Amino acid sequence: MAFSYMPGFGNDFETETLPGSLPQGRNSPQRPAYGLYAEQLSGSPFTAPRGTNERSWLYRIRPSVRHTGRFNGVSYPRWKTAPNIGDHELALGQYRWNPVPMPTEPTDFISGMRTMTTAGDAVGQSGMAAHVYVANRDMVDDHFFNADGELMIVPQVGALRFVTEMGVIELRPGEIAVLPRGLVFKVELADKEARGYVCENYGAKFTMPDRGPIGANCLANPRDFKTPCAWFEEKETPCRLIVKWCGTFHVTELGHSPLDVVAWHGNYAPYKYDLSTFSPVGAILFDHPDPSIFTVLTAPSGEAGTANVDFVIFPPRWLVAENTFRPPWYHRNIMSEFMGLIHGQYDAKEEGFVPGGISLHNQMLAHGPDASGFEKATRADLKPVKLDNTMAFMFETRFPQMLTRYAAELDTLQENYIDCWADLKKRFNGTPEGDWT
Ligand SMILES: [Fe+2]
Repeated sequence: MAFSYMPGFGNDFETETLPGSLPQGRNSPQRPAYGLYAEQLSGSPFTAPRGTNERSWLYRIRPSVRHTGRFNGVSYPRWKTAPNIGDHELALGQYRWNPVPMPTEPTDFISGMRTMTTAGDAVGQSGMAAHVYVANRDMVDDHFFNADGELMIVPQVGALRFVTEMGVIELRPGEIAVLPRGLVFKVELADKEARGYVCENYGAKFTMPDRGPIGANCLANPRDFKTPCAWFEEKETPCRLIVKWCGTFHVTELGHSPLDVVAWHGNYAPYKYDLSTFSPVGAILFDHPDPSIFTVLTAPSGEAGTANVDFVIFPPRWLVAENTFRPPWYHRNIMSEFMGLIHGQYDAKEEGFVPGGISLHNQMLAHGPDASGFEKATRADLKPVKLDNTMAFMFETRFPQMLTRYAAELDTLQENYIDCWADLKKRFNGTPEGDWT
């Protein structure tokens, strides 16, 4: 079955699966068509300014109060929530990991969530968590919603199908999806196993960055974001709904599927985006701009220009700058940087940072190209070069990122990452030429 999508970012969408199931001209008719219940799902306070006001109207077989019974506690010990400080004994440092191993036990998308870092405070609705998911089986009768934040999913291995109450998103590596806070969904695997990254954003929703002097085009373009058309199932067999709420997990038993929205309209909805449609902008004579030029989506923190989270990619592109050190320069930043590699090679680290791997450069900790990258870049013949077959990304936040015990004790933590800079030698010898031997 092919699922269809509606183009645009933050549009006021409308979609129906059965003719006439979406009320026209009003939200809450006395008796909705097909005997459906009308229900509003709010993503912002009612009184939020028009530009950030988000809600959708869902027309469903049963109202959501019938998709919850009494809750019982349930444990997902590897999914951590901020604040999660002092969880481990690992010293401060720049860290890098090889990929999180695939599970051998049956593991679905929720039980396969492994938190690497947390930042800020979920209850205060600021900050984020960076997770890796690994999975080898479908959520068949289990469904989930997260009250703590929206989820950005970045697949690295295996295609997934997000069956949500507002429609179905099929997602493969090279695409991302964003599921808003509170949306009920389950995840099916299109391949035998799956792995990828998740940013759980506790703060204001991801939105498109302002482009400033770049103008009305390039970077991510609104039409390349795709929101699913309505889809529902009428499944009258036992199901479960698992809820993440302030870092705790709860489960409730249902006699039917909660994925029963026949029609909906509004601007609070899940979406996906194909990273290959990002049109990068960069230096065309010398130097290069800050990596903010590669921001796909940004979640504001309330302070201008200071993101709760930025989602930044490093896509294929041409390097043409003259008399320029072309890789990222050495830097220390107030923002903290969680990086992953979807495929290929990252230009500042040709070795050691492998697809599925992770690096963490925390607030104010120095980093930059490794010694071999520096050697190569300072001796390169500066012809135009295509940086191809690469897709790295970064979750960058204004908050320091706290490692979890899982991350600190993971076997794939590279003991010697810090040594990648050890061979950067002193080249200052008092002469203007320096020592470039
Ligand atoms: Fe950096």
